Amino acid sequence: MELKKAIKERRSIRSWHEKKVDMSIIKKIIEYGTWAPSACNRQLWRFVIITDNKIKKQLQDAGAQGWITKAPVTIAVFYHKDINSKNHANIQSASAAIENILLLAHEHSLGSLWMADIGDFNQIKKIVKAPKNFTPVAYILLGYPKHIPTAPKRQNPKDIIGHNTFPGTDISSSTYPEKWTTENIIQFQEKTCRATTAGHKYFKYPKKVTELIEQEIIPKINGTNLDLFAYDGHTSSIIAKKRKIELHECSNEVINFTKAVMKKENIPEKNYKFILGKAEKIPKKNNSTDNITIILKLERFPDKSKKKIIDECSRILKPKGKLIILYRNRTSLGWLNKEYRLKVQKRNKIDTHYLGMWSIGPYYATTEKKMNKLMTHFNIIEKKGFLTIPFIKTALDKTRIFCEYQLIIAEKKHN
Ligand SMILES: Cc1cc2nc3c(=O)[nH]c(=O)nc-3n(C[C@H](O)[C@H](O)[C@H](O)COP(=O)(O)O)c2cc1C
Repeated sequence: MELKKAIKERRSIRSWHEKKVDMSIIKKIIEYGTWAPSACNRQLWRFVIITDNKIKKQLQDAGAQGWITKAPVTIAVFYHKDINSKNHANIQSASAAIENILLLAHEHSLGSLWMADIGDFNQIKKIVKAPKNFTPVAYILLGYPKHIPTAPKRQNPKDIIGHNTFPGTDISSSTYPEKWTTENIIQFQEKTCRATTAGHKYFKYPKKVTELIEQEIIPKINGTNLDLFAYDGHTSSIIAKKRKIELHECSNEVINFTKAVMKKENIPEKNYKFILGKAEKIPKKNNSTDNITIILKLERFPDKSKKKIIDECSRILKPKGKLIILYRNRTSLGWLNKEYRLKVQKRNKIDTHYLGMWSIGPYYATTEKKMNKLMTHFNIIEKKGFLTIPFIKTALDKTRIFCEYQLIIAEKKHN
């Protein structure tokens, strides 16, 4: 197979047929894979071929992502822990072999997945009886592919290639939106929506949020409704079950992902329509919409951008049109635990969370005071707070103190 074709065609596969893979093919692929360069030519890589379902299950229990039990074959790649560890040359060597193996697998019509999220290294070593000086680097999952996803978009070369100097500006890894540009947040989501959920799993908010949307938001929506930043699609799908909506998103990648979620939730296609725009520039005419909903999404953007988004809502809404915002309240019991992790445990880098909530990019709960400031073009007509503990519900809902979720319903002012 031509090299360029193989490089472009290879995809990360996450569903496989049960069909067995010939052991001789696997061994051949690994053998060719080791024609990769290695630091000081030490070739201190080791490969464990795992086909035993019991072992795969043990590896999953040790923290590997669940795909491991779905693929017929897993190759656990190890490298020496100390020799050539300077400059991560050991990991680089193993990685060179891994990429070769992925391309060779593709040549053999096998679908592979490079998995770094493998779990607890010590447990893994125990399970496959690895000696103490070898460290696991990654798993390669293999099998005949059931579903081959479309290729995720690659970055524009002009954004990533610099000549004699570094291209572009820095990219934040912070969980605080204030440390990001809005453009970078959108780019993050564009790429991560596939990797995190892989079109199979997606983030679902607690049942409380579903109830809240059903009881407090949907009855308030009459006429046309525009939902901003659907992303994971969960909250939008709850609305689309009952009301026709337009969904504004900022990239085709995210739109495709949200569409897949809508399908999974069995939302009839006639109930929703996507529009592609920019975070702060929504391609809709002035005074054209009856309602806009922003449900647990505004907290993803820096404050400056929040203001521009709300102003944009005022442009689009008809006079007296309703803006309905549900947001996570920073001064709440529920957020305390997050604050503890962010501030005390210093888990304030997106990577320390790996997947999960921060897979949507930076996110930081906001406050009622800050929200009030954004509403210059609106009259607030209703405010409510919601606790996640039902038994103290009524007392605190009115005061909104300590409530984890807060709802603002505002009406566009007449100019
Ligand atoms: C170092 C590395 C680690 C990865 N780890 C995981 C992983 O743990 N789980 C997973 O589902 N995909 C993982 N991937 C696959 C990427 O998500 C995938 O390569 C990316 O989304 C681009 O898709 P493509 O490989 O089809 O071009 C990893 C890829 C690399 C290079």
